[in-house]
Amino acid sequence: MKLLIKNVKMVDAFSSKDGGLLIENGRISRIIETHKSEGQEAMQQLATTDDIEVIDGKGLTLMPAFIDLHCHLRYPGFEYKEDLESGQRAALKGGYTTLAAMANTKPVCDSPELLNSILTRSRGLNLCDLHQVGAITKGLEGKALADFKGMLPYTRLFSDDGNTIFDEAIMKAAIEAAKVMDFKILVHAQPETEIIARDIKLVEELKGSLHFCHISKEASLDLIKAAKAKGLNISCEVTPHHLFAYGLDYKVNPSFRGEGDVKALLKGLEEGHIDMVATDHAPHSHEDKEKGSPGISSIEVAFSMVNTVFQENGLNTNTLSRVMSYAPAKFLGLNSGLIKEGLEANLLLVNLDEAYKISTEDFISKGKNNPFDGAAVKGRVKMTIKRGQMMFQHINQ
Ligand code: NCD
Repeated sequence: MKLLIKNVKMVDAFSSKDGGLLIENGRISRIIETHKSEGQEAMQQLATTDDIEVIDGKGLTLMPAFIDLHCHLRYPGFEYKEDLESGQRAALKGGYTTLAAMANTKPVCDSPELLNSILTRSRGLNLCDLHQVGAITKGLEGKALADFKGMLPYTRLFSDDGNTIFDEAIMKAAIEAAKVMDFKILVHAQPETEIIARDIKLVEELKGSLHFCHISKEASLDLIKAAKAKGLNISCEVTPHHLFAYGLDYKVNPSFRGEGDVKALLKGLEEGHIDMVATDHAPHSHEDKEKGSPGISSIEVAFSMVNTVFQENGLNTNTLSRVMSYAPAKFLGLNSGLIKEGLEANLLLVNLDEAYKISTEDFISKGKNNPFDGAAVKGRVKMTIKRGQMMFQHINQ
């Protein structure tokens, strides 16, 4: 099947072009720019070819689909909060075609058998491309390293997210293992600045590498900036909610911070010191939230939240694409995250200026725990395409 998307502005991390593109066999086969007459003629010809389906994206922006390095899909064990299907359908609505799901499930994702069974089940759904994160320590207890070697055929991502590894010897052993076996460690740091400072020291000492999850403080960013300036192999992410609001009394790890922190984080993204935005989509039931479970369900409105804040603070859509598609693709070693001939056609049609109000009632996610219910946002995902196939379409009410 061939699919032509025409009449769009194509925006990725590095460029913005008017025109459209052709998708064949799930890949971007041809990019057509229409600022010149040759391009307009080529487009016209393709649009009237018999076996090509045409999508007219007039007024919309075409972007690479988003990639989320950090979400919680709650399978297995907490399916009443979310499951592979509800979480991935919510993700597709939010413009994500690739996800990395954290290991704090029941049982914990710390065995090859469990990883294999989750991935097999997920493939059967044929929704998002799933990367299942494995636990760094057995049972996320921070005491003994998990079976990295056994899990490596199924994942190259390891994290105890939700729990901090306080034992320095364990952290050192994990960094060493990641170096030898070539995998990534995603760090949950709480207390944030103290643990980040300790771990940067370990990376320097061991010549290792680490990725810091959901940083929220200017002080953390300063430490990371200094470490990167020294040439250390460090990366980090920030969540949509820590950019969207400050000072909010809503239980989430890490907590909402101050206005100065938000400004610093935005600057960090613009200047490239913060590598990416990752949702930390953390769905909970109403009862669990009442009992104090931390977290925000956000994957289907993450783009709207980030786009709103970026527009208000003068950050452009190329930067948004860099931090939501290109950087996570690069981190995962995927040949995607850009609009480029030959790449898999994981794409979005978005309306960057559509204004609407977040409504948790409309969430596909089982988790309605989002403090921004009713908040005005700008920017909406209109269509999500994975390998040339339409996976989600927003129908205007
Ligand atoms: C996470 C969750 O619910 O799994 N919650 C959150 O507030 N980010 C775990 C965690 O990081 O505490």
